[in-house]
Amino acid sequence: MSMKLPFFKKKKPEPKEQSEFDTIPKHVAIIMDGNGRWAKKRGLPRIAGHKEGMDVVRDVVKTAVSFHIEILTLYAFSTENWKRPDSEVDYLLRLPKEFLHIYLPELIENNVRIETIGELELLPDHTKEAVHYAKEKTKDNDGLLLNFALNYGSRFEIMEAIRRIVADIDDNQLKLDSLDEKTFAAYLYTNGLSDPDLLIRTSGEKRLSNFLLWQAAYSEFWFTDVLWPDFSEEMFKDALHDYQQRKRRYGGV
Ligand code: IPE
Ligand code: IPE
Ligand code: MG
Repeated sequence: MSMKLPFFKKKKPEPKEQSEFDTIPKHVAIIMDGNGRWAKKRGLPRIAGHKEGMDVVRDVVKTAVSFHIEILTLYAFSTENWKRPDSEVDYLLRLPKEFLHIYLPELIENNVRIETIGELELLPDHTKEAVHYAKEKTKDNDGLLLNFALNYGSRFEIMEAIRRIVADIDDNQLKLDSLDEKTFAAYLYTNGLSDPDLLIRTSGEKRLSNFLLWQAAYSEFWFTDVLWPDFSEEMFKDALHDYQQRKRRYGGV
């Protein structure tokens, strides 16, 4: 079911000068929020919002490819989302498979590599299998890295890192004296990835909700009241444009 997507063709973003193109964030992370409220406003069940949101993921990937963004990390399911009713959790955990079933061919065609952060082991087999398959199929692609945060929680990630660091110190694999920020970061799921430059959250909430607490130390934040299923390419461009106006100082002058 391969579908050719004209918009995936590698072309530079229209109105931008080359200098602006150079300041495109390397790593964009998105907290895709507001699916439930979107559905409620329409008198639909919450899962209708999740379904609609899935197609927005595809559009956002398309935009990220066209802007030559290197890494797009999407918060799809948090370690706290297990608190939701079973039927909703079940639906949310079916979406990765459904998304990949529809869109994997075009992702492959467009050189996208799929990765995940989070505790995959605790997910249902059908979710794990779909994700493993997609990772395997795309592992040699060197275009956009599409990174899904699935069963991801930053506190759990950090606790796990500490556990593994302590174990490695016990095993003499690591010396406490040599533990620095770089070494610590290598124990996180995001090992090898640059920190997010731009972090977007939709739906009007202005919190991290346990997303990339370590990695977002110097991210630029961009919030919109728009609910995720209504998020559009234009809004993504607005966020990128806003990012380009920011002065990142990292504590300097
Ligand atoms: C985001 O939308 C999707 C996930 C958290 C998986 P929500 O389901 O949180 O929608 P709201 O925030 O209740 O509107
Ligand atoms: C964050 O949204 C998690 C995802 C988008 C996957 P939530 O809707 O779960 O966050 P809270 O509950 O509003 O903080
Ligand atoms: Mg929410």
